[in-house]
Amino acid sequence: MRAVQVSKLDGPEAIEVVDLPEPTGHGVVIDVEAAGVAFPDALMSRGLYQIRPELPFVLGSELAGVVRSAPEGSPLSPGDRVAALTGAGSAMAEVVIAAPEQVFALPDVFGPTTGAGVVFNDLTVDFALRERGRLAHGETVLVHGAAGGIGTSVLRMAAALGAARVIAVVSSEAKAQRAREAGATDVVLVDNWLTEVRALTEGKGVDVIIDPVGGDRFTDSLRSLARGGRLVVVGFTGGDIPTVKVNRLLLKNIEVVGAGWGEYILGVPGYLQEQWARLVPLYESGAIALPTITEFPVERAAEAVASLENRTATGKVVLTF
Ligand SMILES: NC(=O)c1ccc[n+]([C@@H]2O[C@H](COP(=O)([O-])OP(=O)(O)OC[C@H]3O[C@@H](n4cnc5c(N)ncnc54)[C@H](OP(=O)(O)O)[C@@H]3O)[C@@H](O)[C@H]2O)c1
Repeated sequence: MRAVQVSKLDGPEAIEVVDLPEPTGHGVVIDVEAAGVAFPDALMSRGLYQIRPELPFVLGSELAGVVRSAPEGSPLSPGDRVAALTGAGSAMAEVVIAAPEQVFALPDVFGPTTGAGVVFNDLTVDFALRERGRLAHGETVLVHGAAGGIGTSVLRMAAALGAARVIAVVSSEAKAQRAREAGATDVVLVDNWLTEVRALTEGKGVDVIIDPVGGDRFTDSLRSLARGGRLVVVGFTGGDIPTVKVNRLLLKNIEVVGAGWGEYILGVPGYLQEQWARLVPLYESGAIALPTITEFPVERAAEAVASLENRTATGKVVLTF
């Protein structure tokens, strides 16, 4: 089978498409049609992610495809269309064996590429907005890196989860366009974003910030919160891990909270399937739009992963087999 392999930690350009034997073991065997690409793939190609598999390893954490076989007792049957999570690694291959609790039956609204691009980011964002951000009906959400994978998930999902307004922060006009298409009610460019957000909210500020970027805009994020606002830390694509002067938290009774979805699901059995079951009717009704996919054939895997690292990616990047 073809697989996307990292054999040295030299970044996306060293990623290779190789022929490997099909995997063996217990679980749901899936013939993969497409695999999602996410920022951790770029980090893993340099050994910079918190999870560092032994070399060589197959990259990828999410996929969509067709069930070849399922263990006894599983509700899945051969031929079922599914999405699956594999954790960090092994999803970018033509055949994958996934843990039954991490396989999700795909409703008919999904095609292979939208199916491969939905689980990782949407379940993270569901957790970040509802569980950690405690988003309440009618609140205003702001998201950094809004044209990226996590960012467009927030734009697609926030209104369905109760937000009245979703403000997107992006670095270019092209990304602004992508953010509007994904559902932003307002879009601001990163250069002058704090002033613009203050003007848009008439000085009140925003209730929930989803921050996959971190870096030097973090203190301004705290300044942009409304009284009682929550800044939800999701990632650090900007590079630097910010520090918080905690006196700022007192000034407007604001909170900084971490959203580590991968850590959370380890401790709460059944949570993933519960999240998926809650979201499926929202996809089916169109309350949550399907992700907009930037598609690469698997032969161009290195380029696909590089597009996240070099900041040219928009929407959700997916490899097709
Ligand atoms: N906590 C969790 O459970 C969890 C789960 C999934 C993902 N994550 C994290 O979420 C983050 C986003 O992942 P993603 O897949 O959405 O990535 P992505 O599609 O590449 O989007 C990230 C966005 O970050 C912005 N950015 C700012 N500075 C950047 C830089 N120096 N290099 C690259 N991008 C930069 C870019 O937007 P602009 O150009 O518009 O600024 C880009 O669109 C990652 O750190 C990932 O590890 C966390």
